[in-house]
Amino acid sequence: MSERDAGLYGELRIAPSMLSADFSDLATSVAVVDAETDWLHVDVMDGHFVPNLTIGPGVVTALRAHSSRYFDCHLMMTDPGKYLEAFARAGADGCTVHVEVGGTDELISQMRDLGLRVGLAANPDTPLSAVEPFLDRIDLLLLMTVFPGFGGQSFIADVMDKVRVARQLVAERSLSLDIEVDGGIDETTAPIAVGAGANVLVAGSAIFARPEPLAAARALRAAASTAVA
Ligand code: DX5
Ligand code: ZN
Repeated sequence: MSERDAGLYGELRIAPSMLSADFSDLATSVAVVDAETDWLHVDVMDGHFVPNLTIGPGVVTALRAHSSRYFDCHLMMTDPGKYLEAFARAGADGCTVHVEVGGTDELISQMRDLGLRVGLAANPDTPLSAVEPFLDRIDLLLLMTVFPGFGGQSFIADVMDKVRVARQLVAERSLSLDIEVDGGIDETTAPIAVGAGANVLVAGSAIFARPEPLAAARALRAAASTAVA
């Protein structure tokens, strides 16, 4: 089990995505936003599931020495099962795999056995019915608000219908589950997502591409807190 604090299910959490940070100085980027950060969102892309390549477990190991934050690793990979152990060893606290790659049952068991918090992601055009059978076995449902692959894209508001239904299922079934949104989250869209029922907000460009990332993270939290359900 990880000793890093994931927080309580359903609690508002700001998770900066290091995808938009300065890759030549990640330790500094992460330290700068630390005071306003709950989790650190680590985007792993394999150049196959998505048309982009980013980082692997080696970078997680390197960053681990510089941060005590909960590392939320988003695995945009066709074959995440091959690498889960490496991410766990590197210091990932939670991993999220995409339902579109299949083998979800096995991947969930693998993550549990490795002591990882278990996340399952769905692309904007994947119906909620694809993840629904797994909701009582996972800790986090990631409903992508852009098609994964790149930072700086526009928020797809239609995904809020899925967020609302997912939040309703959490309430009806008393599930221990966080609902995360990722893509195009900024001061305008954060309250919309939280109002629909999301509680973990991933933001890359709205934090790291701003002149003052710490102030941007604080502003995002303040904006999210204004949401009306
Ligand atoms: C998209 C990644 C996101 C991305 C978000 O494929 O999963 O985490 O970095 O970036 P912004 O916040 O710029 O949309
Ligand atoms: Zn992500």
